This record gives sequence, C-alpha cells and structure tokens, in this order.
Amino acid sequence: METPALNALLCPHCGLEFTAPQPDAHSLACAGAHTFDVARQGYLNLLTGHGTKFVPDTAAMVAARDAFLEAGHYQPLADALADRVGSLLAAAEGNALIVDAGTGTGWYLQQVLAALGGRTVAAVGLDISKFALRRAARRNPQALNVVWDLWRELPLGAGTADVVLVVFAPRNAAEFARILKPGGSLVIVTPLPGHLAEIAQEAGMLGIQDGKEEALAASLAGDFTAEGSAELHVPLELGAADVGNVALMGPAGHHLDEVALGERLAALPATTRATAAFRISVFRPLPRP
Ligand SMILES: C[S@@+](CC[C@H](N)C(=O)[O-])C[C@H]1O[C@@H](n2cnc3c(N)ncnc32)[C@H](O)[C@@H]1O
Ligand SMILES: [Zn+2]
Repeated sequence: METPALNALLCPHCGLEFTAPQPDAHSLACAGAHTFDVARQGYLNLLTGHGTKFVPDTAAMVAARDAFLEAGHYQPLADALADRVGSLLAAAEGNALIVDAGTGTGWYLQQVLAALGGRTVAAVGLDISKFALRRAARRNPQALNVVWDLWRELPLGAGTADVVLVVFAPRNAAEFARILKPGGSLVIVTPLPGHLAEIAQEAGMLGIQDGKEEALAASLAGDFTAEGSAELHVPLELGAADVGNVALMGPAGHHLDEVALGERLAALPATTRATAAFRISVFRPLPRP
C-alpha cells in the first residue's frame, strides 16, 4: 500500500486521516479507529456498509474492456493523455498527486504514470467495481486503488490533487473541484459523436450522448472553467473478437444477448474498419469563495 497517496485519504466515516499500515497489512485504520479491508489483491474497500444501488460492471465486462485495451487499439489516446498530464504536472511543485476517477482496470493510469519518467507521482484510482480494481491493483501496485462511489463525497482531502483524470467515467464536478489544488487540472476524455459508429449496430452499442463540448462545459460550469480541448480520431482495424469486446465492455454489456451477439460477429468479415473519436478536455477549478 502506497504511503504518499495515503496522506490525501480521509476516513469516509469520520473524516480523519489514516495511520500508516504495516507493509503487508490486511486492513487500514483511521485515527478514529475505523478499519477497512485491504483485499488480497491489494485494493482498499472504503464502501463497506454503504449499500449502494449502483450495479457495477461484471467480471465479464471488465475482462472484455481489459482485453480490448491490452490489444492496443486505444494506444494513441493513452499516449495523448500521458503527454497532456505530463505537461500539466511539469508545473506542479513538491509531491504531486493524480486521482484517476473511474480508473477501471487502471490501463490509462499505468501509461500516464510510466510516461512521467523518473518523477515519482502519487496516484489514487477510484472505482466502484471490485472486478476492475483487482486488475488495477495488479497493474498499478504503486497506486492506492480504492472501491468508492464517485457520486458520494470523495474520501480525499480538499486541495490535495494536482490532476483529476476522468476517462469515460462519471463526473462529480463539485467533488473534483474540492479535491483539486487551486492550480490543479481536471482532464476529461469523452467520446465524440460518431465514435465507433461503423460497428454500433454489430456491437449493440447505445447511442453516444456525450460529445458536445458546450454540454460538457455547462455541466461543470459552477465549479470549473474550460482551459482547452483537443480531438483525437483513431483509425482502427478490428477483428470479430475486438468487436465482441466493444459490445461487452460498454453499458450494453449488462443486458446483452450473447447468442445474438455471436451470430452478428460470425457474419463479420475478418477485419472491420472503424474510427474511434475522442475529445480530451482540460478544466481548471474556479477559485473557492
Ligand atoms: C467505461 S469504464 C472506464 C474505465 C477506465 N477509465 C477506462 O477507460 O478504461 C467506466 C468506469 O467507471 C466506473 N464507475 C461507473 N460508475 C461509477 C461510480 N458511481 N463510482 C465509481 N466508479 C464508477 C465503472 O466501474 C467503470 O470501471
Ligand atoms: Zn474514521
């Protein structure tokens, strides 16, 4: 369990800090003596007893997303993100902290951290899916991987983060603004209209609702000001297994008819061309009153 990131963590029950654990500890205690389990796989579960209504991604959905990312189709996005975060952190002084909100299997965070070269930056990955965090903890053992619901008050101190990264995950604007340092940055990746449109039918994908730059800025307007954004279009050549992974890894994966999907995939040519289209947007927190 990484200690620098632990300094930013606060107990969700009493708001007190955590005390440094032994290297192989199976639980973590706050200064108010509340304890939380550290899973065998290395992630920390702070959500105990909260009884969330949210239905997390299943193991199969998480495995599909991980396989798709591991195949490297979105490497240009990871490279662009690593670049952006690297330059944002170049100006950060002292111990920097990245919070990856909805870290999933930690694939993007891994690349962002790796690209920072010799610089050691503390990292927290938050996600509600234990299946995802099992993989994230294996992938980013140096990060603090925490089971948490992004729609709740985040278990992090005010003004502790230099960068909050949100790649296709929920955006809790007020909480992101609270945990960011005054000069910090919120980096958001959203799909553009037309993202993977060529395989939307085959993959049974739901329509893209995001994409409008103005809508994203408006949803953050009370807490952030837009700093800039860049579009990224990535041409892809996908095999049937890749298209299947796209189908399974998205929200549609919760209620997918696997027999029908198998039939659609069997009808595909060896390679299907498609274009992934993303927007990377950077926001700055507004000064707090
Ligand atoms: C589309 S995935 C993206 C994951 C990762 N950022 C990536 O791009 O590989 C969305 C992630 O957000 C997580 N998520 C959704 N709602 C959440 C919530 N309320 N609190 C925490 N995580 C949530 C899901 O478990 C999932 O891992
Ligand atoms: Zn406590």
